[in-house]
Amino acid sequence: MNIHEKISLQSYNTFGVSVNAKYFTKIKSNEELIDAILFAKKNNCEMLFLGGGSNILFTKDFDGLAVVMETKGIVEEKFDDNTIIVTAQAGENWHNFVLYCIDKNFGGLENLSLIPGNVGTSPIQNIGAYGVEIKDVLQSCKVLNIETLTIEKIELPQCQFGYRDSIFKSSEKGKFVILEVSFLLSTQHHTIHSTYGAIKTELEKMKVSNPRIKDISNAVIAIRESKLPNPKIIGNAGSFFKNPTIDFPSYENLKKDFPTISGYPNDSGVKLAAGWLIEQAGWKGKEIGNVATHHLQSLVIINKTGKATGEEIYNFSEKIIQSVQEKFGISLEREVNIL
Ligand code: FAD
Ligand code: EPU
Repeated sequence: MNIHEKISLQSYNTFGVSVNAKYFTKIKSNEELIDAILFAKKNNCEMLFLGGGSNILFTKDFDGLAVVMETKGIVEEKFDDNTIIVTAQAGENWHNFVLYCIDKNFGGLENLSLIPGNVGTSPIQNIGAYGVEIKDVLQSCKVLNIETLTIEKIELPQCQFGYRDSIFKSSEKGKFVILEVSFLLSTQHHTIHSTYGAIKTELEKMKVSNPRIKDISNAVIAIRESKLPNPKIIGNAGSFFKNPTIDFPSYENLKKDFPTISGYPNDSGVKLAAGWLIEQAGWKGKEIGNVATHHLQSLVIINKTGKATGEEIYNFSEKIIQSVQEKFGISLEREVNIL
């Protein structure tokens, strides 16, 4: 393991924000990870674990040790006649892992195609898209307890998954490094999720009437490419805010003033589309300095010129929160991790 000093993190965050880490290392094994933690403890510095950097906004230099997770490996173990346990190391790229599973005819991850980032980060905010979340397929995670340096297994119920949430993002934040994740996937009788959003329309366009898991993946990829900016071309971190849930009476009240608002009932009330709220508040495609919202998706904040600082992006997001609060009385919560 090599520790480098004063390294730019610009190519390690998909916003492309230019900040430096005081110390920086890449780890390829659990032994190197332990060495890195011991270095940080000895030098009394904070640690930051990085996957693809696609859900993070740096507002300042990182005054500690940034550790890029590059552990690789995938293993399979038969569970029963229709189920396989597939375990991937934290540093595997998420989308490549999804494609690997589809190629092997393992079903369950296809709706989560083309989400940037690493396998090891996928449980942190219970990644979700097109009607499926990690919680639907995860069996367990292996983690390293940073304080005790012991390896622990965390089973599905212990993860306390919620919408873009888990213990790793809330109550146990900073306690563990996720080393590997195991998924329970189908091998023969796949459950096809084709009703969410535009999947059906996309399949019709593709002239597919009896979709296989590969068709679902292709449809999801096509939809995503049509409306989300590619972070390799334009800096962004996907949805900047979460979709808010409000109680039913508040929704009924809003509907009187804004008859075109649409809501999706869930266990805690009614979920609203943050993108719609932001667009209605006048922010679709709006630019301030180097920052803008994407012209097709107001929920995505972009580093329009490639020169934005994290602070500029953060201040832009503050203005959106204020506008939506003033117009609708709703507080938007950020999905992206701010540092
Ligand atoms: P990073 O940004 O590197 O890290 C995120 C957080 O996890 C940080 O706090 C980091 O310190 C911590 N961390 C990283 N690795 C570990 C580890 N091994 N152990 C412990 N902590 C760790 N998300 C969705 O849910 N659904 C979507 O549809 C979606 N679409 C997106 C589209 C685009 C274009 C972009 C840019 C992002 C999108 N995202 C989406 C957000 C993002 O891709 C996910 O949150 C992804 O899981 C982040 O992975 P990462 O490896 O890049 O995380
Ligand atoms: N909408 C607008 N204006 C906009 C954007 C959206 O009116 O500028 C409306 C759309 O017309 C649609 C609704 O809002 O009726 C929802 O939009 P979309 O289908 O694009 O999904 P989303 O709610 O904006 C969520 C996730 C995405 C995920 C997609 C697909 C959150 C915060 N975002 O987006 O996840 O890929 O659904 O499942 O839950 C992410 O988390 O980074 C992310 C990209």
